[in-house]
Amino acid sequence: MASRTLRIGLIPGDGIGREVIPAGKKILESLPSSLGLKFSFVDLDAGYETFKQTGTALPDKTVETLQKECDGALFGAVSSPTTKVAGYTSPIVALRKKLSLFANVRPCKTTLSPAFASPTPHPIDLVIVRENTEDLYVKEEKTYADPSGEGQIAEAIKRISSKASWRIANIAGEIAVRRQKMRESAASAEEKDKKALVTITHKSNVLSQTDGLFRSTAREALSQAKFSSVAIEEQIVDSMVYKLFLQPQYYDVIVAPNLYGDLLSDGAAALVGSLGLVPSANVGDGIVIGEPCHGSAPDIEGKGIANPIATIRSVAVMLEFLDLPEAANVIYRAVDANLAEGSFVSPDLGGTAKTSQVVNDIIKRL
Ligand code: NAI
Ligand code: MG
Repeated sequence: MASRTLRIGLIPGDGIGREVIPAGKKILESLPSSLGLKFSFVDLDAGYETFKQTGTALPDKTVETLQKECDGALFGAVSSPTTKVAGYTSPIVALRKKLSLFANVRPCKTTLSPAFASPTPHPIDLVIVRENTEDLYVKEEKTYADPSGEGQIAEAIKRISSKASWRIANIAGEIAVRRQKMRESAASAEEKDKKALVTITHKSNVLSQTDGLFRSTAREALSQAKFSSVAIEEQIVDSMVYKLFLQPQYYDVIVAPNLYGDLLSDGAAALVGSLGLVPSANVGDGIVIGEPCHGSAPDIEGKGIANPIATIRSVAVMLEFLDLPEAANVIYRAVDANLAEGSFVSPDLGGTAKTSQVVNDIIKRL
């Protein structure tokens, strides 16, 4: 088999990002040679530590190297301060915009394990497709004196464009079609029976212009002939949270503007047991950046107990969107086997295994 070499940027960022990104690298290095893939790596800086040292959270060199050299990248997490720090802006939010990574694809699937009980009675298997470039994350905020003379007023812009709404709904539709094809080749009748469904999430009953535009554009994008086998429905975001917790097994692909997508995906992570299990990939027209859904987890930083699975699965989602589904499946299966056997499970899932033990057990199963 002809071998292909992929160049991968490694951006650990802060906190447990520095513990889990090396795990992702190890997994790529340990993939079976029969896949015909080779990897070269480049270490890149970004994050709050980088900001404190250099005055910028996202050095130009990081962006340029990603743009010019890399096929893919792995991003850990950044410790963004909760109060305004002059000159600081979240590098991952900036990176998504600069590299036109317009979709954050967040699969969330139950894995059964003797080591921990599933939080839901029925297994769930859904993907949240979160818009990545606009909504409240345009971060255009201002604070000014309240004209009444009492205190201050703070305002934020929520910007929704038909262009961004169309392309996010379009990729959600494509993901639904691809998942349906994969289910058709699956073994269990239950899986085969699940129909492709995209649920559009919004709050257009209140925000009739911004979320209204998202809703109507998403509907239009999903009415293309190529999605004729996909059922389309919509759900207002608050009742979406209710239904997601009540009957998560019902959902297939959920498409949402930036903020709702962020909130729904952390909620969905609780339904499969831990934020430490849930991956994502930032997808656009070029490079793909794998990124665990969790943050820098300062409460467990430096203890060597961070669950590496969210990152390892993010490696797989990255490979899937680099059109390497076979390599992705090797990783998904090794992770599932680690959890199904249950001997090396990290403390967030009730186990006692260290990050390195989980990584080594998964490598053995690749
Ligand atoms: P978090 O996701 O870092 O942690 C939430 C909880 O989940 C914590 O109890 C943590 O210990 C646990 N957890 C998360 N990942 C885990 C893993 N791999 N293994 C085991 N347990 C895990 O969210 P939090 O605490 O709200 O934010 C901490 C920092 O992370 C903040 O500075 C925030 O701005 C940043 N953050 C960064 C993100 C990014 O870079 N994309 C995303 C979310 C938060
Ligand atoms: Mg988040």
